[in-house]
Parts: sequence; structure tokens; C-alpha cells
Amino acid sequence: MAQGQPTSISPALWSSRFVFIMAAVGSAVGLGNIWKFPYITGENGGGAFVLVYLACIAVIGLPLMMSEVMVGRRGGKSPIGTMAVVAKAEGRSKHWVGVGIMATLAAFIILSFYSVIAGWTMPYIISAMSGSFSDISAEDSGALFGGLLASPWQLLLWHSIFMGLTVLVSAGGVRHGLERAVTKLMPALFILLLILVGYAATTGHFGEAVSFLFKPDFSALTAEAILTALGHAFFTLSLASGAMMAYGAYLPKHVSIARTAVVIAVMDTGVALLAGLAIFPIVFAHGLAAGEGPGLIFVTLPVAFGQMPGGGFFATLFFVLLLFAAWTSSISMLESLVSYLNEKGIGRVKAAIGGGLAAWLVGITTLLSLNVWSDFTPLDMFARFEGKTLFDLYDYLTANIMMPVVALLIAVFVGWKMKPEHSASELGAWHKVWFPVVRYLTPIALLIVFYFNLK
Ligand code: PHE
Ligand code: NA
Repeated sequence: MAQGQPTSISPALWSSRFVFIMAAVGSAVGLGNIWKFPYITGENGGGAFVLVYLACIAVIGLPLMMSEVMVGRRGGKSPIGTMAVVAKAEGRSKHWVGVGIMATLAAFIILSFYSVIAGWTMPYIISAMSGSFSDISAEDSGALFGGLLASPWQLLLWHSIFMGLTVLVSAGGVRHGLERAVTKLMPALFILLLILVGYAATTGHFGEAVSFLFKPDFSALTAEAILTALGHAFFTLSLASGAMMAYGAYLPKHVSIARTAVVIAVMDTGVALLAGLAIFPIVFAHGLAAGEGPGLIFVTLPVAFGQMPGGGFFATLFFVLLLFAAWTSSISMLESLVSYLNEKGIGRVKAAIGGGLAAWLVGITTLLSLNVWSDFTPLDMFARFEGKTLFDLYDYLTANIMMPVVALLIAVFVGWKMKPEHSASELGAWHKVWFPVVRYLTPIALLIVFYFNLK
């Protein structure tokens, strides 16, 4: 394998385009698609929000993914190292390294709460296996979920196990564990979602769900909702967090970045839309609240599984796959930091344990904000942050502030600071379309969203 990193277990290049796609899809597809997309869509009124989200994916997310993978491949280092190296090679200020630092920090904060949420899948696997969902009412399902959130010790246990799993793969070198896991996992998850959508179609509320998701009512759309849709486009595609940049560093030269990015974005979007189509018919059929919040899928899906023939089996499989999907994402979040520490001479094992431990500690503040600290909303003096717990704040800070800022800076970098010959040599024929988009469209769109949110 070409381009050796210092130790044999650290990732060298991906062995093929297919493997990179799998790793990147593993990073992209996760809780963002199945947990977050449905619940924020429910909170933001459906159709118009979904449309803005799709537009953000196509116009901002996709070109940015191409940019990040490209910069990552040129730099060939951690996101921080890559920004330093590439800025220098382009004769630009060394301060561009700040973009890598902010991205790595965002990934770290996301990891801290992502692990808590991902932990929820484990007690759900146990409940599914023990048949607790069979014929469960919406009310009891809500109570089951409420019970989990009310128990900090339970949450701590699952959070700790999940972070441990993340560190485990990260310490062993990402490529190792990931290649095989993802190739089996993603197709299985996709098929299971199709089955769930099939079930949802039998609830008699499928049409209602389709119009909720796809019939836009623009009167319901606020500037804040647009920012949320934008932030989610970054979150769901693993952008502005170093994840794609770090993975891009392992991408062989001959692989087409643009075609690869399209595949990743399409798969990610497909999974999110399927999740929406699976969940909202159930929500409407059982009179549940679309704006239920972060518990949405954990309250609705058990009800569906509970009524489905073979529901215990499908429920178990579903939460296992969700756990795996979250796992392949969390590994990529840790990669920004671990690859950086690795460059600084800290071994992969130490770096993964150190980074994971720190994120685990911060994660404890998230899990406490679901119960004993649920009234602790420290930034109430700012209207924008009013009523937000620590968990809400981490989510808001990363998706709605840090990621859009990082995205803007990356667009400015590739669109204005990098020599177009350089980006053209990476992107080939696609450069003609990509370049004007990242140079003008992306920054302008981002600035407009910022403007209306700061006004
Ligand atoms: N894209 C992942 C998801 O949708 C989350 C993620 C964010 C992964 C940032 C890596 C970096 O679940
Ligand atoms: Na995603």
C-alpha cells in the first residue's frame, strides 16, 4: 500500500473507490438520517422544511462535500494538518488552520452527545428481544422512553459502552473495522427501512404522511427553520466537521471525487426520506405529535413493530442496524481529532482513548440535561438560546453556528484562495460546474441565511 503512515495499523489509502464510498456512507448515514431528520422535520412543520433541506443538500452540501474531499486528498493529513499544508501550498495565510481546528472541535462536541443518543439503541434492542413492544400502546411506548431518559445511570451505562465501541475501532485504525462492517450493514439497513415503509403504507395514513413531507407550506417557514435545515444538511453529510476531509485524505488519486460525492449524497438523502416515510404514517395513525422532539422515533417505532407480524425480530434488527449506523458515524467524528493527535506523535491507541474519554466526559453533561439538569438552561438571557438545555445548546452550537461558519470558510478557501488549476486537476470536467457554485452561489446562500438569522 502506497503512502505509509507511521504504524502498520493506521489507515493508509482506501483500497478502492467502493471502499471509500462505503466508509463515507458509513459516516454519513447515521442518527442524523433516522433519528434527527424525522424529528426536526416534525418540529419544523414538514414540507417546506424538507424542500429547503433538499435544496441545501444539492446546492450547498454536495459542492462542499466535493471541496472537503478534494482538500483532504491534497493535504493527505488530519483536517487540521491538511488545512495547514494546503493553505501553505497555495501561498495563503497560516490562519486557515483555524478552519481545521473549528471543524475538529465541532466533531468533538457532536461526538459527545451523539454517543448518548446512540446509547439509547441498546436498551431498545433488549426491549425488542424480550418482546416488550408487542401490542404496546403509544402511551406505554412514551412511558418506556420517558423512563429511560429519567435514569441517568442507565444512560451513563449505554453512553459508556457506545463510546467504548467507538474508541475500539478508532484505536485499531479506521480502515480495518470499517471496510467489512459497512458493506453488509448499509444494504441491510436500507432493506429494513423499505420493509418499515411497506408497513407504514398499511396504516391508512400514508397519504397524509406523504403530503406532510412533500407538500410545502411556506407560511410555516421561519428564518430559524431555514438555518436548521442548512445545519442539518452539513450534519447529515458529515461535512464541516473534518470527517469527510479526514476520509478524503485516504482517497486514491484516480478516484472521481464528484461522482463519489453524488453517490454519497444520494444514499444519505434516500435513507433520510425513507425514515420519514416510515415514521410519519405511524405518527398520524396513532395521533402522536409530529413535534414530539428527540424521542420521536423511539416512541413511534415500537408501536409499529408491536403490531407487525414478526415485529420483535424486525425491531431487534432495526435497532441493531441503527446502532451500527451510529457507530460507523461516531468513528468518523473521532477521526478528525485522532488523526491530528497522531500527527503530533501520539499513538493511535492513546489518541483514541484520550479523545474518546474527553468526549465521554462532556457527554455526561448531555445525559444529565435529559433529567436532573433538564431545567438548567444557562443561556436564557439570549432570546436565541432561551429554554435550551446543555444538550440543546451543543446541538445548536454545532449544527446551526459552527458548521455553517466552517462551511462558509471552506467555500471561500476553495473558491477564492486556491488556484483554480489545482482544484481543476482534482475534479476534472466537473470543475466547470463546481467552481462557480463554490465561488459565488454557496457563499452568497450562506450569507443570506446568516443575515436573516442575525437580523
Ligand atoms: N452524518 C452523521 C449522521 O447523519 C453525523 C456526523 C456528523 C458524522 C459529523 C460525522 C461528522 O448521523
Ligand atoms: Na446522515
